[in-house]
Amino acid sequence: MGTDGDQVDPGGEDRTPEKEHASERPVVTKHGAVVSRRAALGMMVGGAAVGVVGAKVGFSSSSGGDLSGTATEMGLDGPAAQAALKTYVPGGEYDEYFMMSSGGHSGQVMVYGVPSMRLLKVIPVFTPESWQGYGFGTDQGNIVLEEGSDPAKSNPLRWGDTHHPALSETEGSYDGRYLYINDRANGRIAMVDLRDFKTKQIFDVPNLQTSHGGCFITPNSEYVHISTMSPTPNTPSGYAPLSRYKEDFRGFSTWLAIDQNTGRFIMDESFQIELPPYTQDLADAGKLTSFGFGFINSYNTEMATGGNMNMDGSMDPAQSLEATATKNDYDFMHIIDWQKAEEIFKAGSGLKTINGMTVIPLDMAANEGILHFAPEPRNPHGVDVNPTGDYICVGGKLDPNASVYSIERIKDAIAKQDYQGTDDYGVPILTLESVLEAQVELGAGPLHTQFDNEGNAYTSLFVDSAVAKWSLGPKAGKSDADSWKLLEKLPVQYNIGHLVTAEGDTVEPDGRYLVALNKWSIDRFPPVGTLHPQNFQLVDLTTPQMEILADMPVGNGEPHYVQMIHRDKLKNVIQVYEPGTDPMNFTTSPYATAAGEERIERKGKDLHVYMTAMRSHYTPDVVEAQQGDVLNLHITNIEQTPDATHGFAIPQYNIEASIDPGEVVNIAVPLNRAGTFAMYCSEFCSALHLEMQGWLQVAPQ
Ligand code: CUA
Repeated sequence: MGTDGDQVDPGGEDRTPEKEHASERPVVTKHGAVVSRRAALGMMVGGAAVGVVGAKVGFSSSSGGDLSGTATEMGLDGPAAQAALKTYVPGGEYDEYFMMSSGGHSGQVMVYGVPSMRLLKVIPVFTPESWQGYGFGTDQGNIVLEEGSDPAKSNPLRWGDTHHPALSETEGSYDGRYLYINDRANGRIAMVDLRDFKTKQIFDVPNLQTSHGGCFITPNSEYVHISTMSPTPNTPSGYAPLSRYKEDFRGFSTWLAIDQNTGRFIMDESFQIELPPYTQDLADAGKLTSFGFGFINSYNTEMATGGNMNMDGSMDPAQSLEATATKNDYDFMHIIDWQKAEEIFKAGSGLKTINGMTVIPLDMAANEGILHFAPEPRNPHGVDVNPTGDYICVGGKLDPNASVYSIERIKDAIAKQDYQGTDDYGVPILTLESVLEAQVELGAGPLHTQFDNEGNAYTSLFVDSAVAKWSLGPKAGKSDADSWKLLEKLPVQYNIGHLVTAEGDTVEPDGRYLVALNKWSIDRFPPVGTLHPQNFQLVDLTTPQMEILADMPVGNGEPHYVQMIHRDKLKNVIQVYEPGTDPMNFTTSPYATAAGEERIERKGKDLHVYMTAMRSHYTPDVVEAQQGDVLNLHITNIEQTPDATHGFAIPQYNIEASIDPGEVVNIAVPLNRAGTFAMYCSEFCSALHLEMQGWLQVAPQ
C-alpha cells in the first residue's frame, strides 16, 4: 500500500494555481488512480506530501512489529487489541461492506463502512441539507422536496422520519442500483440513485398518512411496498369521529411498480389493497419458496382509539390507547398474495380509485384470496422471512417467543380453506395450529430478526438488551435435533431496536458481521450534553461465540433499520458526471454550458446567466441585475476531475449550491433585495478557493 504522497505524479510538483485547471490536467497517479483532493492540496502547498512519507518511515523503524508493546502502551488487553485490529481499515484501503442507515427524524440516510464503522456520507432525503445544496435553491433538491409534498394531502414538508431502507434486488440479492426509504411520519417514500448517491424522487403516497410497513422490495424489484401505520379516515374530508373508527378508518398496502431504468415509481402500474383499521406494522417480502407473498404484522386489532382524559377534564386511565390496544391475546399477520392482486388489478373490474390511486377494495381482497390472516401472539413487531423463503419469523414484543410460520403450511391451509373464522371485515383467519411451525423462547421483548448463511437467526431483545442467536429448522439446513434452539445470548449496550447482518435479508446472507442498533448509549461515550448519541455495536459472527468488536456513537440522527451491502455490489457508482449532466436523469442538460459559451441573456424580467465554474473562477463573475428581476442561474462545473466540486453561495438570499464535476445546476432567485452581494464558492476547492468569488449587483428600483 502506498501513501497518497508517494502515488503523486512527480510532474505535479510544478503545479501552480494558474496551471491547476483540472479539466486540462486531471490529478491522476501513475497507476491511473486518482489522488484525493486533500493530497492534491498538500502537493500544491509544496512539501506536505513528502512530510507524510517521512512520518510513515519514521513510525515503521521505531515501533513497527511490536504489537504487544503498543497494546500495552494503549492500555488494551488481548481481546480489545484483537478487536481493534479486526476493525482497523488503513487510510486508502476500503471497507468491505457499506451500511445504508436510516436517520430517523433527521430525515436523512447515512452510509457507514464496515468493519471500520466510519461515516462515509450523509445523503439528504426528506430534510434540507446545506453542504450538498439540497433544498437551498438548486433544482435537484428543490424539485425533489417540492414534488415530495402532495398539496392535496400535506403542507409543504421539510422533514421526514426515515425508518426502513430497501436496496433494490435481482433474484433476491442486492444489485446496487437503487435505495428506497420510507418516511414514517408522513406516509412517503424516497428513491436514492446509487450511481451518484442522490435522492431523485420523493412520493407522497395517497391514502397513507403515516407508514411503517415497508419499505420492502420484491425479489426482482417488481414492486416496492409501503403500507399504513395508523389507519386514517377513508372519507372525502379526511375527518371522521373516533366513534366511527371501525366503519370509516382504513389501512392500505401499497405496491409501487418501479421503472427498471430510472428507479422511479410508475403510477399507472401501481395499486393499493384496502385493509381493516388494525395498526399495520412491519412487513417483508416472500422470496424463493414464498415468492409472490408479502407479510405485514399488525397490532391494535382491538381497534382502540385512546381517551384517557375526557374533554370535560375527567380522567379515565383505563381507556388509554396503551391499555386498550393490548387486550387481545392474538393480532393478525396479514398474508398478501401480490401476484393474485396484480392479476385482479390488471383485469380492472371492481376496483376503486381513491385520491388518484387504484385500490382493490377490502371485500374483494378477502373474497378473491388476496388477503388472509394468521393469528400471531400479542402486539408483534418484526416479521422477517429467512433466506430460503420457508420461514416467516415474528417477534412477539409482549411475548417471549419468536413465532415461526412456514410458507408450506400457509399454502396448504389456504388451499384447504382451513379457517378458524373470519374477522369483522370478512377476511379469513387461518387456523393457528395449521400454520405455526415452531416457537422458540428467546427472552424479553423480541423485535427483529436477521439471518446468516448457516441456518441461524439473530433476534433483537429490546427489554433484555441482548441479541439472541437461535437455529432455524430443516428447511434452513438444520438437522431435526439441531432445529429451533436458542444457542446464545449476547448482552448489548443498551436496548437494541433493529439489527442487521451482512446481506442478512437476502437469499444469500454472508454472516460475518452483525450490527446491533442500540437506542440508548447511557454511559458508553463521554457526555455531550443531555441528548445522547445512539450506539451501533459491531459484532463478529466468525468467532465461536459472538464478540462485540466496536461501539460507534451515532450523533446525527436516530436510525431504525439499516441494510449491509458488500462493496462489490455497488458497481454502478460514478465519481464524475459526463460533461454537462442534469443529475436528475443523467441526460445532457439543455442548460449545459461549455467554456467559451458563457453568456447573459435577458428576457423581460428574467435574467438568464449561463455560467461555468472551474478552479478558481466563475465565468461570468459579475452579474448586473435590477431589483424585481428573476435571476436564473445555469451553472456548469466544467471540470472532470473527481472531487473537484465547487460551491455557489449568495449571501442574504438563502442560496447554496454544490456543483460536482460535470454537473449542471439551475437556480431561480427572485431578486427582491437590492444590494451588492459577494457570491462565492463555498467548497474549499483549490489554493485560490478564496479568490473564487464574484459580485451579484442588484440595483435598487
Ligand atoms: Cu471552487 Cu472553492
